[in-house]
Amino acid sequence: MTPDINWSELSFSYYPTDFNVRCYYRDGEWSAIEETSDTNISLHMAASCLHYGQEAFEGLKAFRCPDGRIRIFRMEENADRLQRSCRGTVMAELPTDIFCEMVRRVVKLNERFIPPYESGAALYIRPLLIGTSPRVGVRPSAEYMAVMFVSPVGPYFKGGFATNNYVIVRNYDRAAPLGTGCYKVGGNYAASLRANKEAHEAGYAGEFYLDAKEKKYIDECGAANFFGIKDNTYITPKSTSILPSITNITLQQIARDLGMKVEVRPVPEEELATFEEAGACGTAAVISPINRIDDPVRGLSYQIAKDGRPGPLSERLYTTLRNIQYGILPDTHGWITVLD
Ligand SMILES: Cc1ncc(COP(=O)(O)O)c(C=O)c1O
Repeated sequence: MTPDINWSELSFSYYPTDFNVRCYYRDGEWSAIEETSDTNISLHMAASCLHYGQEAFEGLKAFRCPDGRIRIFRMEENADRLQRSCRGTVMAELPTDIFCEMVRRVVKLNERFIPPYESGAALYIRPLLIGTSPRVGVRPSAEYMAVMFVSPVGPYFKGGFATNNYVIVRNYDRAAPLGTGCYKVGGNYAASLRANKEAHEAGYAGEFYLDAKEKKYIDECGAANFFGIKDNTYITPKSTSILPSITNITLQQIARDLGMKVEVRPVPEEELATFEEAGACGTAAVISPINRIDDPVRGLSYQIAKDGRPGPLSERLYTTLRNIQYGILPDTHGWITVLD
């Protein structure tokens, strides 16, 4: 039965669905995958995820396509990144085959919540891995739990592809160069909440981080990677403290396919003044084009978008990626899993 949802009015938030799937690591082995409708987790009060932040998560999407089929985007990359996050926080790694089977199962079990193509909405998949052993001293858990749930999420751009303003924060760091910024672990997000709140209160779409060591180079754009475009070149920061965005590596490949050059290198703040276009990229929006970036502490403002509108190359990259996700363009790089 189709749920009674106004798909195009959905936001990016939790919406209850029918099932979630779980898997447990005990005595050095992952269990069989379990399916449940229970949305609660029973945890020991001393679980290592609660006290010492042993937790990592992922985010990916499944799409209902114009040909009626369901497509999942780059799930093996998400499995790989979760394994890196696990290594970075000394947690048991969920093997790729189990990760992918959990994704397939949780999508199939909640098929009726996959939004129709015309709505522009999608099914967001949230894998989570946590340390569950009781720990009072700081040391890794022996047991782990992997859980995956889904939530239909609305189109990011309700009024069409549009630009946003960002603010450079100099009084907070999200992550340190040799810290955990390159892993998708909750602690990084906790560290970003104050900067994000202050940016929103000041009327910005989000906060813009510079490198923590020198405050000279661009790191990330809130919970998204940054790219700038000039002279037919896609330029994105190289930094050890940012999350390697799967959307970003995808856009780099598409840029090359479209005949653009790609540079992954440190990007000094001053270079913002030279970009013809810029954007924040991630699973939620694919590309969120940038209008202006302010640096209030230094009294600087970088106006990037012409007439406040997204640039033509950003739009082309965005449309190409979306059309690959929807099976409208061929999947020449093996990014898509079709769920039958
Ligand atoms: C801190 C951070 N950077 C970048 C991204 C974008 O990554 P992806 O394109 O894999 O969604 C995300 C979202 O997952 C994020 O949380």
